[in-house]
Amino acid sequence: MTNQMTPTMDEQARAILRGNDRGGYTVPTAGLYPYQWNWDSAFAAWGFATFDVARAWVEIETLLTGQWDNGMVPHILFHRPDPGYFPGPDVWGGVGPVPSSGISQPPVAASFARRVYDIDPDASREALARIFPRLKAWHQWFMDWRLDQGAVCITHPWEAGRDNTPDWDGAMAGIDPVGVGDYTRRDTSHVDPAMRPTKYDYDRYIWLVQLGRRLNWDEAALLEENPFRVADPTMTFTLLRAQRDLAALGRALGEDVSSIDVAIQELEAGAETLWNPDLACYDARDVRSGKWAGCVSNASFLNWYAGIDHPGMVAQYDRITSICKYPVPSHDPSSDRFDAKRYWRGPTWGIMNALIGLGLEECGHTDRAEALRKTTGELIRDHGFAEYFDPLTGHAAGGGTFTWTAAVWLGWTSPTRPKGAS
Ligand code: GLC
Repeated sequence: MTNQMTPTMDEQARAILRGNDRGGYTVPTAGLYPYQWNWDSAFAAWGFATFDVARAWVEIETLLTGQWDNGMVPHILFHRPDPGYFPGPDVWGGVGPVPSSGISQPPVAASFARRVYDIDPDASREALARIFPRLKAWHQWFMDWRLDQGAVCITHPWEAGRDNTPDWDGAMAGIDPVGVGDYTRRDTSHVDPAMRPTKYDYDRYIWLVQLGRRLNWDEAALLEENPFRVADPTMTFTLLRAQRDLAALGRALGEDVSSIDVAIQELEAGAETLWNPDLACYDARDVRSGKWAGCVSNASFLNWYAGIDHPGMVAQYDRITSICKYPVPSHDPSSDRFDAKRYWRGPTWGIMNALIGLGLEECGHTDRAEALRKTTGELIRDHGFAEYFDPLTGHAAGGGTFTWTAAVWLGWTSPTRPKGAS
């Protein structure tokens, strides 16, 4: 084969998005994740927007068809049954218009809607006007039900999108998964179990799903009964950023955004309650026990993405990037809980790097932002469009041909990315 016949990285990335397109929504990767995932879809829209703006809006609009009456947008929409996945719609018992899970995920959709809009405002206006009220209602659901001193809480580890991070170890230890019963995991038949959460974790994940279902996913009841309630940097920083982007989009549409401006102030104050002075870092806080997680994670570094510059975080960032070749690891490599291949306990994720890099750049840390864009681009070019990567060796881990890694390539690391994409 001659060089001319080898597909370029851009072509490969576009082929992954097309290949994972199930008609109106994109699966993260075939097999391991056969449905529509919430924040994965927002990244997919970003990737599509680099070559097909109309398809990008369809992705976001399909996601919002799953919105519940209370405003919540679920973390998984089970549009079509697939027996290869557990826990499926029958286990979750979601109460929305589309079969779904009962929890949400980091609200990055408004932020990527803004990027799609910026690429082509004229072609985007109608779709934006349709989704604006839905995004606003979803953000308000977080404000109404999930704040603790202004920081955003999760009620299940999966909600933060960082399933098995050490951030939750303390809160997970407080759960006794009594009565969880027998179940068959499907994730470990798709990828190496050493790269996945343990059975200890999985029993607690399923126990929490059963609890939510028993309470019919009623947020007031969950607030009373759920032992797992953690104020989380991922949710707090992404919602703060999403509210800023939604306010900008609302202004472009001529909408009244005063309530969003109030929410921004509340979240800014909330973000500061995540500063752990002993760790000198933004950290997760267990609301039930009042204890810090004590974790420097890649979510800690989303502060810039939320528009918050902090000299202490620059120092942490420089320390972490000096001890690992392919930053940003999902957990501090100098911690004894670091595990280079196990999902959110060490590996580097392209999507988190993109959010961190965008934030660094906006806050004027241009050299750091460029260096991160470069190493992330090299990771993808040299090791493929993997779900995540070993931060020490760069080796690919988890699933392959991954939608959000292809999207990060197209929107953030590709030399051909369109103006407005990043
Ligand atoms: C895993 C990740 C989560 C992601 C999902 C689909 O559960 O932890 O963040 O949304 O896979 O890719």
